[in-house]
Order: sequence, then structure tokens, then C-alpha cells
Amino acid sequence: MDQKKLWNQIWNRDDRLLSNNFAKRSFSEIKNKPLISLLDIGCGIGVDSIFFAQNGLKVTAVDFSESGIRKFKQTIEHKKIKNIILLQEDISDFKFPPNSFDVVYAHLSLHYFDDQTTTKIFNRLYKILKPKGLFFIKCKSTDDHLYGRGKKIEKDMYLRQGHIRHFFSKEYMAEKLKKFRVLKIRKTSSTYHTYKSFFIEAAATK
Ligand SMILES: C[S@@+](CC[C@H](N)C(=O)[O-])C[C@H]1O[C@@H](n2cnc3c(N)ncnc32)[C@H](O)[C@@H]1O
Repeated sequence: MDQKKLWNQIWNRDDRLLSNNFAKRSFSEIKNKPLISLLDIGCGIGVDSIFFAQNGLKVTAVDFSESGIRKFKQTIEHKKIKNIILLQEDISDFKFPPNSFDVVYAHLSLHYFDDQTTTKIFNRLYKILKPKGLFFIKCKSTDDHLYGRGKKIEKDMYLRQGHIRHFFSKEYMAEKLKKFRVLKIRKTSSTYHTYKSFFIEAAATK
């Protein structure tokens, strides 16, 4: 299935309001530094963007799902939040000038692309991050129970029930971040939708 169509269907039925713990953990690294502008890549219905905006950051949020962006817009209008710019765009081909953001944040949004596209996205994110800025990223890991299930598309990448997922190992995350200065890369797990999922989280700077 077309991945944009898939996410339009998901966001048409999902009404989650709570921000993710990863956003809270990332914010604890941001809050005492002079970092103001944040790009939320693959923002979905904006739960984390809203959390960052309510904590004083100037947020630019990007997603290709019309239904996700529509819900997000309704929420920020309802909550009268002014410091969020919403863009409906494909993140495999976004264009921002170099050194645009103090923080780039990607929660479960960069594990959908083939290796070549993933490399291109990471290199672009490096360019648009300001020097001394922070990049936070969390992706599904090769330890996850969904790993290896479905039709193999390329190494560590599978299509299952309409979803394309590219699973990350610690080594793969380190390789994609090689232009950055890596601050940490670690394995984590959390329970979403009643089952335990496994992830690779990273923080990096420029
Ligand atoms: C698992 S959701 C995460 C949403 C949000 N970061 C959160 O944690 O609530 C993945 C998001 O990535 C978006 N996405 C996937 N591929 C994309 C692409 N090529 N361009 C823009 N957004 C994309 C989907 O629309 C979806 O909103």
C-alpha cells in the first residue's frame, strides 16, 4: 500500500493526546541550553511538537499525511498555540536552508526509507542543524519482534501488512550519524499498543 495513504488512514482514527517519553527525555537535554528552534520530522498529529511548543520552543513540524496535519491544526487552533509552523511535505525531499534549526527531532519517523534515501535524509539533517545544535532520533530496532517478518525489500527492511519498516541496529545508526558528533546511541524498549517494542535511540550534535 502507498505509505501516505496508510498514514492518512491511521491518523483518521488515532486520537492520542499524550506526548512521548522520548520527547520528555530529549527536552531535559535541551532546556538548559540556548536552543530555541526545533524541527519535528514526521510529526504525525503533533503530540510531541505541542509538548515542545508549550515548553517555549519555536517548532516547525513536517509530515506528509493530510489527515495527521489536519488534526494537528485543529488541536493548535483549539489550544491557541502560536509558536508552531505546520508543513505538509515529504521528508525524503524537504528543503530548508543550511543551519536552520537548533534542534532536529525524529520520533519513529526515519525508519521507513531504503538505505540510499536514509543516507540522503541524515546528510540533509546534518546541513540544516546549526553548529552545536542537537539531533534526537528514535527508530525501530533489529531486536524488535516484527524484524524479519513480511516481504524483504532490502537489508533489514520489510513490508508487512502494508507497513514498510527499516529496522536499525546500533552500528547502522552510528554509520548514518557519521557526519555528526555522536553523544549517545542506546537500545531501549517500550510498550505501545499492549506489546513490547524495541528501539535504537540516539542523540548527536554538529
Ligand atoms: C509512527 S508515526 C510517528 C509520528 C510522531 N512522530 C509521533 O511520535 O507521534 C510516523 C510518522 O511519519 C510520517 N511519515 C512517514 N513517511 C513520511 C514521509 N516520507 N514524509 C513525511 N512524513 C512521513 C507518517 O505520516 C507518520 O505521521
